Amino acid sequence: MNIQQKVNGVWGSRWVFILAATGSAVGLGNIWKFPYITGENGGGAFVLVYLACIALIGVPIMIAEVMLGRRGRMSPINSMLLLARESNTSRWWGSVGWLGSLAGILILSFYSVIAGWALQYMSLSASGEFYQISGEASGATFSGLLADVESLVTWHTVFMALTLLIVMAGVVKGLGKAISVIMPLLLVLLLVMLGYSIAEGNFAEGWNFLFAFDASKLEWNSVLVALGHAFFTLSLGMGAIMAYGSYMPEEKVSIGNTVIIIAMLDTLIALIAGLVIFPIVFANPSIEPGAGPGLLFVSLPIAFGNMAGGQLFGFMFFALVALAALSSAISIIEPTVAWLVESRIASRIKATLGLGFTIWFVGLGTVLSFNHWADYTLFDKTFFDSLDYLTANIMLPLGGLLMALFVGWFMNTKAIVEELGPIDQGGYKYWLRILRYVSPVLLAIVFVMSLIG
Ligand code: TRP
Repeated sequence: MNIQQKVNGVWGSRWVFILAATGSAVGLGNIWKFPYITGENGGGAFVLVYLACIALIGVPIMIAEVMLGRRGRMSPINSMLLLARESNTSRWWGSVGWLGSLAGILILSFYSVIAGWALQYMSLSASGEFYQISGEASGATFSGLLADVESLVTWHTVFMALTLLIVMAGVVKGLGKAISVIMPLLLVLLLVMLGYSIAEGNFAEGWNFLFAFDASKLEWNSVLVALGHAFFTLSLGMGAIMAYGSYMPEEKVSIGNTVIIIAMLDTLIALIAGLVIFPIVFANPSIEPGAGPGLLFVSLPIAFGNMAGGQLFGFMFFALVALAALSSAISIIEPTVAWLVESRIASRIKATLGLGFTIWFVGLGTVLSFNHWADYTLFDKTFFDSLDYLTANIMLPLGGLLMALFVGWFMNTKAIVEELGPIDQGGYKYWLRILRYVSPVLLAIVFVMSLIG
């Protein structure tokens, strides 16, 4: 064991790494964000672009990011510095870690507010609030929540507190066990909901919306949103996956296969969430597919309010969403905590509390952007919209681009081979080519085209 692993820990086995990384990947991105941005961006064509981004950009970069972590064996900032030195190249690569920490602070600040909605919806479901609710009434309940600053702040605070407690205890301990219960349960409950949508929703229209390809609806900005979401949903581009990679045990496991499993699980859960939500949306004329961030919270209560056992299922569903969000949230803050601890700037407890307070405070901006600040916009975006856009669509793809360039063009080949095995044969041959020539070029094209419209 080296210093970092003594300081921050090691996963018990490869299996725990898979669980933890899946816990990081599967979260609000899959269940809340994917359906609502798909709705806003017209459906089918957007989904197809998103799937292509996962396969051609997300998976290759995720392999690179895990590998960087396992090779560096330190927090992202220090791993990048170390590997840059090992490869005799510029210290500037350390900025990948800095950019990632900043992105993490901004992402968690709004992520926690949305997870707070799920917490509040747990209690609303349990109290029978949704019994036989109509589309209109469900919309009104959600608008009421957005106007209620006190509730929003309370649940945001509760969620941040839970996140900080786990991170203080150390991410490695216990996390794997929790995830191995949460993920299967979440999948089962999503399948129950899918049953409802097939039986009671407008399933054919929902399916068509998700999978019928209509390129005329696609603009460059939607392509950028799809690309950004591929990063967001796989937790890529900011060092979360790098930090988790650094806790991987020494036993040699195939990073490539592991990453493909995680990406497939993540995609499966997002697609099922879409297949649950859109049939309900199309069966209720008062809900628009492009309703925005409230889509999940307006549509699902209708299902829970009208199905047998809906009170219990609703409670369980939102509890699982909150837990999935929790296992993601810890991975957003962990890289920076690990860096503070490893650099002996603060103890784990102080680092977590200091960073947590900062994030909580920035989160108040997101809370206000749904009510008092709703009319303050920049380029037509509220504070929340701007944070989301800046992080998911700009900072994460930029971080990913830098990682792809570093591994593809600057990193010592011997080091890559030591981590991955021979890279001139099998799947890794294609991986390296895609990482060098395809991913960066696609990223650059999408950036430039969405800038010039
Ligand atoms: N992937 C998570 C989700 O889909 C969110 C997340 C966790 C994340 N860690 C991250 C996003 C790191 C970007 C970067 O909900």
